[in-house]
Amino acid sequence: MPKVAFAFLELMPFAVCERVHGMSKLIIDGGYRLNGEVRVHGAKNSALPVLTATLLCPGVNIIHNCPKLSDVEATLKILTHLGCKCHREQDTVVVDSSDIVNCDIPDELMREMRSSIVFLGAIAARCGYAKLSSPGGCELGPRPIDLHLSSLRQMGLVIDESHGYLECTVEKSLVGTEINLSLPSVGATENIMLAATTAKGKTVIHNAAREPEISDLADFLNSAGACIHGAGTGTIEIIGVDPKTMHGTEHTVIPDRIIAATYMAAAAITRGCVVLKDIIPSHIAPVLSSFKEAGCDINIWDRTLKITAPPQLGRIRQIRTLPFPGFPTDAGPPVLAMTTIANGSSMFVENVFENRFKYVDELKRLGAVISVSGRVAVVDGVKSLSGASVVATDLRGGAALVVAGLAAQGTTTIDEIRHIDRGYENIELSLSSLGAKIKRE
Ligand code: EPZ
Repeated sequence: MPKVAFAFLELMPFAVCERVHGMSKLIIDGGYRLNGEVRVHGAKNSALPVLTATLLCPGVNIIHNCPKLSDVEATLKILTHLGCKCHREQDTVVVDSSDIVNCDIPDELMREMRSSIVFLGAIAARCGYAKLSSPGGCELGPRPIDLHLSSLRQMGLVIDESHGYLECTVEKSLVGTEINLSLPSVGATENIMLAATTAKGKTVIHNAAREPEISDLADFLNSAGACIHGAGTGTIEIIGVDPKTMHGTEHTVIPDRIIAATYMAAAAITRGCVVLKDIIPSHIAPVLSSFKEAGCDINIWDRTLKITAPPQLGRIRQIRTLPFPGFPTDAGPPVLAMTTIANGSSMFVENVFENRFKYVDELKRLGAVISVSGRVAVVDGVKSLSGASVVATDLRGGAALVVAGLAAQGTTTIDEIRHIDRGYENIELSLSSLGAKIKRE
């Protein structure tokens, strides 16, 4: 693409893209087996905290394998507002965080993505002050931030919550301390790590989240001068360093384990055979037993996974979603969609979010037989699904509708696919390359 055109694309106001995407829908003609090879792109839930962490690394930060997603664009808009110079060259994003000119996140940017609350620790640490509007809930339930706020208060951040804003001031400096999380919150763990990197003294997080994205964030920060040990275990130790010793760095984001699980579910439900490139076996391990119980054959070598579906999927007795290394809540919806045409009943127990089953009603429009009571969904497999018009309710629920639509007989139309574009880069192109009949309108 000629530079000038590329430059134009770079300048295209996000709103324009959003408006275009906002009106698009996905049209799927179901019943085609998926076959072939697809590369898994970088992890959204690693890219977001890593980009946020560039605030603590004054200088040029080069982030490779950064997926082209609306949530990533939203994060870059916030970094730009704060004073960073950001630009993208294909899968690499460059963030120059040398000069910070603002310490707040405007309301409209906060509303675009509630996980921007993770900026709180980084802005407070860099600026000594931070002002964010309180993040709204989201499709998955209230999603409170009490653990974020109580932990940062323990480190000396004075937080005034009023009129829908969080106004935060660092009196003298952030101070390291022992923090016991009542639940292993991913976002709270990240917020504490960011605030603790240049705090005075040592911070120890007990009952920390163990997700691979936490380890990726620690690797990024350590390559920029931080001193973080134990990421990936339940106890993370951060020795505060002098902010002046932190510097720009280069990092490659880990592959997205939830995208991998989604493609596996798509291969399984279409009785296909798909090779996934660039996966990390230990990250995908928590979902393998479920696919094997459903009758799929899985081979893994190096950073490659090959999944071969059986002619008829078997049921999955029970899936309980849990923090890593349990079955990931984000893989629940695509895998549940896959079981809608399995032979027998499958049970899903959602232990992480309040109402993660909003998408089930849309799946039922495709002919799925599912009963939900509280945190438990029971799927009674049917012979086949039939295409219909459905609406995506949230990111992973939308992915579930795509998985089901690939197997439904006839045409499935999915509206509100902006939810899907938050976490899946050009989902229709990837699936088309595997033989799916899917297009964006
Ligand atoms: C991260 O969300 C991910 N998002 C989610 O992915 C993922 O589902 C979740 O972790 C669990 O793995 C990003 O990384 C951007 P939590 P987060 O804090 O940090 C409760 C996707 O589809 N909680 O671990 O918000 C909370 O209500 C998204 O990519 C509190 O009660 O998850 C939830 O029930 C969806 N108080 C549970 O903990 C708090 O202060 C887990 O939340 C914080 C959380």
